[in-house]
Amino acid sequence: MQRKLLTLTVALPALIGIFSYLLTTTPSAQDKPAPGLAVNFDEAAMAPRERLGMRLFFDTRLSEPAGQACASCHDPSRAFTGNNGTTIGVALGSRPGTFGFRDTPTAMYLATVPKFGSMLKENQRVPAGGLFWDGRADTLEDQAKGPFFNPMEMNNRDPQSLIGKIATGPYAAEFRKVWGERIFDNAETALDAVAKSIAAFERTPAFQPFSSKFDAVMRGQAKFTEQEQRGLSLFTIRQKGNCASCHVVDEASRDPKKSLFTDFSYHALGLPRSMRIPKNATDASYFDLGLCGPFRDTTPEKDPKGCGLFKVPTLRNIAITGPYMHNGLFDNLRDAVAYYATRDTDPKKWFPDGKKFNDLPPQFHANVDVETPPYQRRPGQRAQLNDEEIDDIVAFLRTLTDGYKP
Ligand code: HEC
Ligand code: HEC
Repeated sequence: MQRKLLTLTVALPALIGIFSYLLTTTPSAQDKPAPGLAVNFDEAAMAPRERLGMRLFFDTRLSEPAGQACASCHDPSRAFTGNNGTTIGVALGSRPGTFGFRDTPTAMYLATVPKFGSMLKENQRVPAGGLFWDGRADTLEDQAKGPFFNPMEMNNRDPQSLIGKIATGPYAAEFRKVWGERIFDNAETALDAVAKSIAAFERTPAFQPFSSKFDAVMRGQAKFTEQEQRGLSLFTIRQKGNCASCHVVDEASRDPKKSLFTDFSYHALGLPRSMRIPKNATDASYFDLGLCGPFRDTTPEKDPKGCGLFKVPTLRNIAITGPYMHNGLFDNLRDAVAYYATRDTDPKKWFPDGKKFNDLPPQFHANVDVETPPYQRRPGQRAQLNDEEIDDIVAFLRTLTDGYKP
């Protein structure tokens, strides 16, 4: 996978990158800033390999040039998102003026993601599972090896150069203690140990605390406001938002762990093209096609039915993980929700000249979901959700931020 990334990611001329960065760093209309997460890493409760994973996750020496860690893009106070501080919807890499192609998803609530495969959904087999927006990594271990060598991210040349930094760093002795005295002898074996340590860290409770107001309500320890309750109903009712058909919530069980707000399946929302992504702005022939897209290399996904499909992300902590969508298009959570309501009834609001699905070549437009709510409407018809209903859903989504104190 890492070799694939190396050949497919084309470095943008640094100048263009810096230029577009300067142009776009004025903050755009944001949601009211939500208080960040105060993540509690309970070192004492961690197994040695988890603690090691934590050191690796925060180590800014592990990029080329030094300065970038996993945490630069996955900032704990923003529920492990953040794009390394940019405001263009995609992350700045370790080299000045290099930008990625996708928005950084949260690294939370991934401990139970199944491997990439398929699931039965409304009597149809649909793709599901895996890590990344396109599911190209099967496990957190596989995933963790990617960013170190991605030239648009941490940009290490090869395992040897990465492992060299760890072997001469401040926690080399700790690393040997966990993985064996000879662990640094072979760079590939050591890289496996790095990936296993990081994945173990990502499976600790800090990454899945289930401590939101929603969770407190499920446990009978708090009550929704009337607006939040209305929002939850609109979110789940099939003839209204129908959001829960993809962003799973299981109220009846009262078990927070059954409400991950995703079923890990893949869908095409037909999102507008984001012109603030440098690659999109400079290359009109470039399309991010998700499941059949530029970063996948295995066959089933090259099926044209996968073109334009992206993984349903969890909505836990959504109030603090903006910008939204795989292309980081929306800065504002309300816009992300409103898009569903009026994409088909008022396409001019979202697409230049109202020409829908301008980020997908025409042959793939049929992959976009149009038949089930919240869609199923025509231009000029009443929107599936009115302004108040959108506000209600947003109010509900704000109950999904961890660290709630009654
Ligand atoms: C320069 C920013 C950046 C850095 C540094 C970075 N990531 Fe990411 N991360 C991203 C982006 C962007 C994606 C989505 C990429 C895609 O889908 O193709 C992602 C995806 C992920 C995912 C998958 C999330 C999901 O929902 O499937 C995990 C887990 C993750 N990163 C962990 C890490 C770890 C561990 C490191 C350090 C080894 C790291 N990241 C370094 C930007 C970054
Ligand atoms: C048919 C499945 C499906 C339904 C129904 C659905 N979503 Fe989504 N949702 C997705 C997918 C897939 C994405 C990611 C799309 C992308 O980035 O290309 C997403 C992304 C999002 C995001 C952005 C998440 C992030 O981290 O960037 C929000 C917010 C959201 N959905 C809210 C809702 C709400 C509210 C509803 C109901 C009105 C809803 N969704 C209905 C599949 C669905």
